[in-house]
Amino acid sequence: MEIIPADRYTFEQLTEAYNQTRVDYLIPMPMNVARLREYAHVYDIDLSCSCVAVQNTVMLGLGMLGVREGRAWITRLGVLPSGRRKGVANAIMTELIAQAEKRDLEAVWLEVIAGNAPAHKLFHKFGFRETRDLIVARRPPNPDTAVPPKNIKRVTALDHEEAIILLSHRRKRPNWLNDTESLQNTRNLSALLVELNDGGRGWITYHAGLLQLTRILVEVTAGDPVSVTAACLNVLHQRHKRQDAKTENIFDDEQWPGFQKAGYIESFRRIEMVKKLK
Ligand SMILES: CC(C)(COP(=O)(O)OP(=O)(O)OC[C@H]1O[C@@H](n2cnc3c(N)ncnc32)[C@H](O)[C@@H]1OP(=O)(O)O)[C@@H](O)C(=O)NCCC(=O)NCCS
Repeated sequence: MEIIPADRYTFEQLTEAYNQTRVDYLIPMPMNVARLREYAHVYDIDLSCSCVAVQNTVMLGLGMLGVREGRAWITRLGVLPSGRRKGVANAIMTELIAQAEKRDLEAVWLEVIAGNAPAHKLFHKFGFRETRDLIVARRPPNPDTAVPPKNIKRVTALDHEEAIILLSHRRKRPNWLNDTESLQNTRNLSALLVELNDGGRGWITYHAGLLQLTRILVEVTAGDPVSVTAACLNVLHQRHKRQDAKTENIFDDEQWPGFQKAGYIESFRRIEMVKKLK
């Protein structure tokens, strides 16, 4: 088996290999070429330090490395079902960690879907430790019941650049997916500043697609975390009544009940893990 840098392959080849590694995956997540390209751009994937495991020109598996200041992120790791339990993931992980070490980075991060025992065990074996639970949640559109929230004093709409400024001032360390760099790399982010009559204040950032609202993040700057979170979400859904909504990798913290109050339903959880290199 050879480990080859992923930049020697086309996005078409990488997409095909990736999809084959996921045919029996816990949560189906097939990708097309355009989506993998976009994914690589948004999450700062460096294909020169990502890799593919190959035997006799047949791809057995792959793994990608996102690289940002001081840190790396392992993603899209997978081995074709026919090649499993033969040390392929072992070889890919060894290479990805070596690439991060070569760049003198402080830590490598990743996420594993809760319940993916083989991958979880693999990451433990490589010295990764759990940091926190992340929730992926969705909300169906509900045009009939969206009543204008009564407790709102003022709503101010902001553009992409202003949204990025808000995001760079979050109190908690964001997960890689929602980090400011990721959101800077996406287009057309919007934000709403929401002030409540009781002095509560918060903001919400999101991307409004034709059918779906994505990249929904809420920060509470004053007042009760649950009611301010729910108010920010209600304001958003009042403005976008027909779209389905999805939020990824939010925390299981004091704001989560606010999401639930606004109609969000947990789809699945990921576990964030880190391996310190220094
Ligand atoms: C998880 C996955 C990448 C492992 O690939 P693999 O090539 O079969 O793994 P390896 O043979 O290199 O095994 C390395 C270690 O992983 C763990 N592991 C792998 N498969 C396992 C299984 N079925 N049950 C328990 N542990 C397992 C073990 O710790 C193993 O070390 P060991 O052999 O010393 O016990 C593979 O099952 C896969 O592609 N799954 C679908 C996609 C996926 O889950 N990707 C990870 C997303 S976070």
